[in-house]
Amino acid sequence: MTDKRETTEELKAEDQTIDLTLRPRTLAEYIGQDSVKGNLKIALQAAKKRKESLEHILVHGNPGLGKTTLAHVIAHELGVGIRVTSGPAIERAGDLAAILTSLADGEILFIDEMHRLNRTIEEVLYPAMEDYKLDLVIGKGPGARTIRLDLPHFTLIGATTRMSIVSGPLRDRFGMTFRLDYYQLKDIEEIVRRSSKILGLKLAPEAAKEIARRSRRTPRVANRLLKRVRDYAEVKADGILDLRTAVDGLNALAIDELGLDQIDRRILETIIDKFHGGPVGLNAIAAAIAEEMETVEDVNEPFLLQLGFLSRTPRGRVVTAEAYKHLGRRPPATAQPMGI
Ligand code: ADE
Repeated sequence: MTDKRETTEELKAEDQTIDLTLRPRTLAEYIGQDSVKGNLKIALQAAKKRKESLEHILVHGNPGLGKTTLAHVIAHELGVGIRVTSGPAIERAGDLAAILTSLADGEILFIDEMHRLNRTIEEVLYPAMEDYKLDLVIGKGPGARTIRLDLPHFTLIGATTRMSIVSGPLRDRFGMTFRLDYYQLKDIEEIVRRSSKILGLKLAPEAAKEIARRSRRTPRVANRLLKRVRDYAEVKADGILDLRTAVDGLNALAIDELGLDQIDRRILETIIDKFHGGPVGLNAIAAAIAEEMETVEDVNEPFLLQLGFLSRTPRGRVVTAEAYKHLGRRPPATAQPMGI
């Protein structure tokens, strides 16, 4: 299925199985993101020394960069349990109350997609985060009263791909904020090598390099491509994982030398052919290629911006001259140079 794009949900389901086997468990095993790891190490040591729970942490970054993985690593390093949920999964205040009251002292509550929490639930979260208190309303109408329950001293780790739409009051209640960036190429290469070792594969060094090069500087993509190349090798190349197989397998997936997939290319081509290179709004692009707006905004756009193939202007997205060249087209005289 090379022409079908996975939805965010499908990616997540696949990610979960990959995660179980390949996810690093300790900070030492977690490759890259050195500045985040450095700061985290200090916070972990200080909390352990004072025998206090760790301060609440907000982690933001594009999908697949390891936010959930990092939360599990933190729990492992502290030797505490972790409860995992997500913003949209917490529908009523009662759902959150049930989770909060079931935590043990020091445990971690991980909430993914923090930006999708509704405001009523945020209000329940504020006293819980600040004072470890839960305000419950008992009864209805004039007879209703509020009781305040003590909560265990838990640590909230919130994750989001959209820092800009997390509400100010919520953001302010986190003691630490970490941003995960796209990984360095050498780190992605190391992740590919580590994963291939765990999976028991004999991957040629040049093949590891090639997979890394096309992985959008994103561990989730790297692990996914590695598994696809393994499948390709088993079916088409007697299980030999050399550079040739990697290149052929990746080409068969329509992943190009820079890691662009069919959707990325369709986005660029659509802006060029249907919107004269832009500017055009993201929703118009998503509609024109019949893709989910959220996937385009969270997955494709950040990578194209990072490559300097798209630029953002107040009037919409514009394709740069570099993108024209990458697609083998002649940029018009008016095309913007890269990175403007
Ligand atoms: N898998 C996902 N993220 C990773 C990382 N940062 N290091 C090692 N393996 C990973």
